[in-house]
Amino acid sequence: MKVFLTGASGVMGRSSIEALHQAGHSVVGLARTPTSAARIEALGAQSCLGDIYDIGALTAGMRGCDAVANLATKVPVGTAALMPGSLRAVDRIRERGSKVVADAARQADVGRIIQQSLSFIYADQDDDWVDEHSPIDVTKASEPVVVAEDTVLGFTASGGTGVSLRFGLITGDDRNSAWLFKRAAAGKPIGLGAESSWMHVVHPDDIGSAVVHALTAPGGVYNVGAEPVQRRDYVDTMAQAAGRKNGRFMPSWVLRLGSEKLEILTRSQRVSSQLFSDRTGWHPQYPKLTPDWFDALI
Ligand SMILES: NC(=O)c1ccc[n+]([C@@H]2O[C@H](COP(=O)([O-])OP(=O)(O)OC[C@H]3O[C@@H](n4cnc5c(N)ncnc54)[C@H](OP(=O)(O)O)[C@@H]3O)[C@@H](O)[C@H]2O)c1
Repeated sequence: MKVFLTGASGVMGRSSIEALHQAGHSVVGLARTPTSAARIEALGAQSCLGDIYDIGALTAGMRGCDAVANLATKVPVGTAALMPGSLRAVDRIRERGSKVVADAARQADVGRIIQQSLSFIYADQDDDWVDEHSPIDVTKASEPVVVAEDTVLGFTASGGTGVSLRFGLITGDDRNSAWLFKRAAAGKPIGLGAESSWMHVVHPDDIGSAVVHALTAPGGVYNVGAEPVQRRDYVDTMAQAAGRKNGRFMPSWVLRLGSEKLEILTRSQRVSSQLFSDRTGWHPQYPKLTPDWFDALI
């Protein structure tokens, strides 16, 4: 197949280009700058210059493609996330950008959209398992993610196939993990929320293979990640990879400062990705968080 990617130069895009090529597909990647275009081309993909809000560029780039994967994001990393307005760009990409992508796909006659989404939107379920039927908790921070999923549902309702992949926290060689890893190495706190609560993580390499499997998945919403891990284990695994005995948790005033932006990162979510495996045969190459997920950061 020929697949059009937004966010092609980001962590999800790079993983997807590699996995799509390995599976024998070809890729056209959206790039906003010549530097990003060069990065995409260095991975063997074709580039298409444009912004996610430029329907003309998107439609032209998508012509002749069989599927679109919308992986563009603008997630703030580190303390920048606490600044006022820090989520404005990523919220707009999710709310407005996903609509432009869907409209362009219709105009270019592309039958399938794969939308990157987040399992963070589920309500806190304590120790209970979370599957695709579990309730979500819509706040100011999670609403744009839900809007993007709704756009994809609308694409399915109008005759296409829409697949939303609810990824866990990307953990490995990515900018957010690198920021946390540096803090952990310095003995600074990195954990958010209750130590016994559950989190859903995904290795960057498993994002790309999930996008490949989503090319043939029935339309719908799927969780994608490794085995859930308790926050105490996540924090200690990262700290130990960074050369420390144990990791530390942030004080509660940080959570109050971050309000809804951080609340979404503290929910207990013991998420199962079984449905996606059952429907597509996808299995994570990295099924359990271990210190070697952080090897590239050492
Ligand atoms: N599930 C998760 O845990 C999750 C999900 C998303 C992000 N994150 C984290 O967020 C951090 C930042 O992500 P990142 O390193 O991938 O970098 P990033 O700087 O957020 O960029 C991501 C991609 O989106 C594209 N993009 C951004 N704004 C765009 C726009 N207006 N129009 C078209 N494309 C646009 C970028 O293209 P250009 O290069 O052309 O600007 C790039 O390809 C990482 O640590 C990542 O793990 C985590």
